[in-house]
Amino acid sequence: MATQIQAIRGMNDCLPEESFKWQQVENTLRQVVAAYGYSEIRTPIVENTALFKRSIGEVTDIVEKEMYTFSDRNDESLTLRPEGTAACVRAGNEHGLLYNQEQRLWYMGPMFRYERPQKGRYRQFHQFGVEVFGLDGPDIDAELILMTARFWKAFGIRDQVKLQLNSLGSNEARANYREKLVSYLAAHEDQLDEDSRRRMQTNPLRVLDSKDPKVQAVVADAPKLIDHLDDESKAHLDGLCQLLDAAGISYEINHCLVRGLDYYNRTVFEWVTDSLGAQGTVCAGGRYDGLVEQLGGRHTTAVGFAMGMERLILLLDTLGQLHQAASTADVYVLGSGDSSTAVANQLAEAVREAMPKLRVLNHRGGGNFKKQFKRADKSGAQVALIIGEDEMAHSQVTIKYLRTGADQVTISQAQLIDHLREYFV
Ligand code: HAM
Repeated sequence: MATQIQAIRGMNDCLPEESFKWQQVENTLRQVVAAYGYSEIRTPIVENTALFKRSIGEVTDIVEKEMYTFSDRNDESLTLRPEGTAACVRAGNEHGLLYNQEQRLWYMGPMFRYERPQKGRYRQFHQFGVEVFGLDGPDIDAELILMTARFWKAFGIRDQVKLQLNSLGSNEARANYREKLVSYLAAHEDQLDEDSRRRMQTNPLRVLDSKDPKVQAVVADAPKLIDHLDDESKAHLDGLCQLLDAAGISYEINHCLVRGLDYYNRTVFEWVTDSLGAQGTVCAGGRYDGLVEQLGGRHTTAVGFAMGMERLILLLDTLGQLHQAASTADVYVLGSGDSSTAVANQLAEAVREAMPKLRVLNHRGGGNFKKQFKRADKSGAQVALIIGEDEMAHSQVTIKYLRTGADQVTISQAQLIDHLREYFV
């Protein structure tokens, strides 16, 4: 036998049982985001590599070691998108959607990062994301957080996720703070691990979210960004906190929350859970007022978030919040063999035409009635339509109720639609 080709490590198939769960989650996400008046944007999965280098930042884990980058046949450097924000900005600039306008957008789809796969972390994963352009007050930051809270409510996991909040201030305030942080870290360099010592030189704020307990102990006494905010950023954060308080959304200010992408300023937030082990961040985002300009557009403020759909689905599944697919069909059509196939097709099409929401499964592949009824039962269908020799001869169809035990009936084919309409009210 030929060797089988396997899927790429960290990239998962979504089999029918799983896809049913995904559809439930996707439907709820779509419904909730529509209730806020947001519009969908779809961008390509592949972009110019420069887009991600310039937006996410050269000295970030994503750009340094996680991107799927390749040359196409024209020797252009392309990258499978590791996230969705950069492409939204690129598309917004390219199509003139941003300057002097307001946009409230959402997207859903696969992203790619070459990370070490583990529970909740994959190389192809999916994000549901929202990006808002052209609004700069804390009111829109609060709207996004209210929206995320509504998602949790709709999924029945409001008590399972906690909101963490921080402000990264303005670029100037952050640059000043960075100097203070570096001198503090330099004074404690002997207690830092190798990774943090390297980061101290390249991206010192990332030392704040180190997972190493020794580094965390050093960081606990480090100067805090929140004490070095510019006045406007401080007022922005206060405004956001007041709106969250008024909406009854509790949060924790996490001084070490700095995010792994370079484009953020002011508000940053994450929703985290204890129920997923190490990969507990279900949703994350913040403000990125400088990115549109950085990517060649006119100054436009922006804020957004993205949630990891695998993590959300894992969490919902762990908590038993998703339904299993009970059946694949409502109606199963079977018959006496080759001679009945054309009539079976015709009746099934008539039912689909008249009742588009019913799932009608035609038996295929022949076999005796016993085999056909076995399949009908397995499909979960409520009724079987039987077209045997007698039914053929008299333009009739027999209806067998597979779940209720009611007596089967034989009716004329012309009555079928009315009969089904009455049954499936
Ligand atoms: P991020 O924090 O890199 O932010 O990713 C957002 C979420 O995507 C994470 O919190 C996590 O749930 C999920 N995620 C990230 N990497 C993986 C992975 N390898 N496997 C499974 N899930 C993963 C962003 O991507 C920003 N674009 C968010 C944003 C939008 N900020 C403003 N607007």
